[in-house]
Amino acid sequence: MKPSLIVNHRFGSYPIYIRTGLQECCTDILGKFLAPSGKHALITDSHVNRLYAAAFIQTANFDLQLQVCPAGEASKSFAQYENLLNSILRSGLDRQSTIIALGGGVPGDLAGFVAATFMRGIPLIQIPTTLLAQVDSSVGGKTGINLAESKNSVGAFWQPQAVLIDPSVLLTLEREQLTSGLAEVVKYGVIMDADFFAWLESNVDAINELDMEIMTQLIHRCCVLKAQVVEEDERETRGRRAILNYGHTFAHAIEKVFGYGVFPHGHAVAMGMHAAAILATKLNLADQSLVTQQAKLLKSLRIPHQFPHEHHDELWNAMQKDKKTVAGELHFILPTRIGHVDLVSSVGRAKVLESMDLAGHTME
Ligand SMILES: NC(=O)c1ccc[n+]([C@@H]2O[C@H](COP(=O)([O-])OP(=O)(O)OC[C@H]3O[C@@H](n4cnc5c(N)ncnc54)[C@H](O)[C@@H]3O)[C@@H](O)[C@H]2O)c1
Ligand SMILES: [Zn+2]
Repeated sequence: MKPSLIVNHRFGSYPIYIRTGLQECCTDILGKFLAPSGKHALITDSHVNRLYAAAFIQTANFDLQLQVCPAGEASKSFAQYENLLNSILRSGLDRQSTIIALGGGVPGDLAGFVAATFMRGIPLIQIPTTLLAQVDSSVGGKTGINLAESKNSVGAFWQPQAVLIDPSVLLTLEREQLTSGLAEVVKYGVIMDADFFAWLESNVDAINELDMEIMTQLIHRCCVLKAQVVEEDERETRGRRAILNYGHTFAHAIEKVFGYGVFPHGHAVAMGMHAAAILATKLNLADQSLVTQQAKLLKSLRIPHQFPHEHHDELWNAMQKDKKTVAGELHFILPTRIGHVDLVSSVGRAKVLESMDLAGHTME
């Protein structure tokens, strides 16, 4: 089977395979990457385990040790990380072994960090099963866990050997998880691809119905776009990767102030994108039509994006502490038109608070 795309990085490249019914041909693909006689680990969470792991292990003709962490963000912890390391060591994994991460961004980030550090690094294969993981977290090589007070603060850049994406697993995903992933999809259109934004507008019904042909194309386009950005700025040193943070300065503050998990990440991002678009108009960087067009697409994809009415002062304070502040100064990624964003610094408190306020009242 031919890869759908190839992602390049400093040390080489890896293929991404995107196809419905991938499970049936996964043995062939895995055969290219896994040592046939070795022991390997399949790391997943409790939900995905129930839905897909058993079938996967049966089809894949390899010695796969199943490792299951509890579903949810809390598994990105030192305790789970240490458990997994001890457990795969006891199961007999060694330097020739491969870790397969099956699940959303949580098992992806956790298993990725295990792969990055076990025996100083062993091969990793990502099989993302949430839309967010398929279009975002499985591409780009970031792996890691959380500190009690700071998300994703411990980790490593560790590129996979391959990414296997089966869009049909999205059929079992809860609507909320789906729309959370769709917010990141809309984000790619706004930050860098006006044609893709227009394509999304004209395929709203098919996306809402999870038409598999359309979802396959959608995931493919997002992977191409993310790959393009991370190839230009693999280790987030050149600033290019910062465009992926569109909406995220607001979103991280919302998640922090309201508590993680109160809003799904993508919904917080959509609220942040709505506020950021309004902020861009307040700074005369963009027209009101951009705000309207973006809100219309978010709404038609049923992505909640109305900004919370409360705690705006706390949100502003939380933004000052965001780890994406550069040299102590807060930066925003703001759109100038659909398909283009700028990095903007020295934005005053009054304009930010006014945008939050307006984003809570104007839906379109
Ligand atoms: N590494 C990166 O570049 C990167 C980028 C973005 C986000 N992330 C991380 O990703 C995480 C969020 O990812 P997520 O939203 O995928 O979370 P998640 O892995 O917790 O998945 C969300 C829920 O969906 C369930 N699930 C997964 N696949 C399913 C399926 N096919 N059918 C039914 N249920 C399914 C999971 O069990 C879980 O309950 C965060 O920790 C975030 O920090 C990492
Ligand atoms: Zn995000």
